[in-house]
Amino acid sequence: MSESVNVLFVCLGNICRSPSAEGIFRKVVEAAGLADKVSISSCGTGSWHVGKAPDARARAAAARRGVDISDLRARQIQASDLTAFDYVLVMDQQNLADVQRIRERNGGTRPELFLHYGRSSHDEVPDPYYGGEKGFETVLDLIQEASEGLLAELRKTLN
Ligand code: 4NP
Repeated sequence: MSESVNVLFVCLGNICRSPSAEGIFRKVVEAAGLADKVSISSCGTGSWHVGKAPDARARAAAARRGVDISDLRARQIQASDLTAFDYVLVMDQQNLADVQRIRERNGGTRPELFLHYGRSSHDEVPDPYYGGEKGFETVLDLIQEASEGLLAELRKTLN
């Protein structure tokens, strides 16, 4: 059992999927009354979008679900994230391979596919960047379901 836990969501750019996961999971945690025990962050494996706000389509899709992610700013993963965070949850197999490579050199928390905590048969949150608006809705549906599964998991470890 532990007093608190911290969770890092990771995607490629940190402007679509992982900031969406950060916002949705924060809402789920707040609704459960656990905001003071669970801290949440996100980052990308790539550096192209560092410092940028989430993609306008991701902001709009989150806002339609009552979640404001406009204050988030993209950052790139660092080796120290794997020692700082208890859960490192990636969106797809490429993210998993990229983070595993960092872990092989530096150790720390083992990354996992976020959808491992969902109930659907999907194991990847598909990259919505080059698609249409609908892709962002799919992303949020998958994230919402996995967030509920992750909350159930964290409840087991929190005092
Ligand atoms: P994300 O989406 O990994 O969910 O933030 C992407 C954002 C940007 C790019 C790819 C994916 N890009 O190639 O610039």
